[in-house]
Amino acid sequence: MSAFNVRPPSGDPAGPLAVPSVTADTQQFRRRLSVAPMMDWTDRHCRFFLRLISRHTLLYTEMVTTAAILRGDQERLLGFHPAEHPLAVQLGGNDPEALAECAKIAEGRGFDEVNLNVGCPSPRVQIGRFGACLMAEPECVADCVRAMCEAVSVPVTVKTRIGIDDRDSYEDLLHFVTTVADAGCGTFIVHARKAWLQGLSPKENRQAPPLRYEVVRRLKSDLPQLEIVLNGGIQTLDEAEQHLSWCDGVMIGRAAYHNPYLLAEADRRLFGQGDLGPRTREEIIEDFLPYVQDELAKGSRLHALTRHILGLYHATPGGKRWRRHISEGASRRDAAETLLLDAANALAAGDFRGDQTRRGSFC
Ligand SMILES: Cc1cc2nc3c(=O)[nH]c(=O)nc-3n(C[C@H](O)[C@H](O)[C@H](O)COP(=O)(O)O)c2cc1C
Repeated sequence: MSAFNVRPPSGDPAGPLAVPSVTADTQQFRRRLSVAPMMDWTDRHCRFFLRLISRHTLLYTEMVTTAAILRGDQERLLGFHPAEHPLAVQLGGNDPEALAECAKIAEGRGFDEVNLNVGCPSPRVQIGRFGACLMAEPECVADCVRAMCEAVSVPVTVKTRIGIDDRDSYEDLLHFVTTVADAGCGTFIVHARKAWLQGLSPKENRQAPPLRYEVVRRLKSDLPQLEIVLNGGIQTLDEAEQHLSWCDGVMIGRAAYHNPYLLAEADRRLFGQGDLGPRTREEIIEDFLPYVQDELAKGSRLHALTRHILGLYHATPGGKRWRRHISEGASRRDAAETLLLDAANALAAGDFRGDQTRRGSFC
């Protein structure tokens, strides 16, 4: 028998979550820590799961293009659970009118921030003339930002690189940021490495060009009135705290996805909240279960939900077997949420350590 106390599916989208979100109706959220937009990774299931770990970390959607929003299924592209706040949508595009329209749609759906992608180097995005290649067109980005700011009252922010190709001098970056800031953007998230638009894949562009935090630091020092969020290569909250001595916020991407429990201390350490201490991994699974049940009832596949939680026990005893058990089990035809219960109980009992020491169930 399961040791979990699984709550029945509620049918109410806000119902099953024990942890109330920080509503950003009053725009009082802070960007001290955010999880980066990541295509195919930070979908709504992933964000819901991360929200169970930290209530205050700002979450970003994957990039959604204006063309997709204006022609596609908006509920599929922009739908989210109310618990996900504070939540920013990231848009990809270069047409001021289309971006303004999409920003308005996003604001109407309740997003707390609209972010423009000026950092993606992928060839497909370059063909559409948006993403990182827009760093070469500061005036175009300024027009986009101006139109978006006029269309919505939520903050409009820009995520960018420190440069592209041979447009990588500090003066180029300063010119880009001041031009866009003059159009109404007060917050820049800066991935502290340049992008090579020819010859490097998006993955290589996240690794090969060296990180240059000193460039972002100089930007903050020259433009102290702007909110500058540092992104790139940050692995731990210790590192985040060090950077926060000079920047306004840090954004973590891959480390937060592969090791989501690193966010567990974020509310207390970075937001001054969470006196009760971090939630345990087991509490997080318990709260994820009703969501999983609801989503399965709506037709989602188990694998689509559980693929984001494989790293929950990262670098803990039994963590590798947890990962294997969930990823193999979730792909089976008859996969059900009991897979999670079984894995969590086995882990708590020590079964995944191979030591067979029974330590009892954790709840
Ligand atoms: C799988 C994946 C998908 C990504 N998709 C996006 C995206 O949609 N929009 C964006 O601005 N950046 C995207 N990025 C880049 C991240 O937002 C971030 O800038 C980059 O990973 C550097 O941060 P990190 O070193 O903390 O991971 C993606 C990164 C990864 C790993």
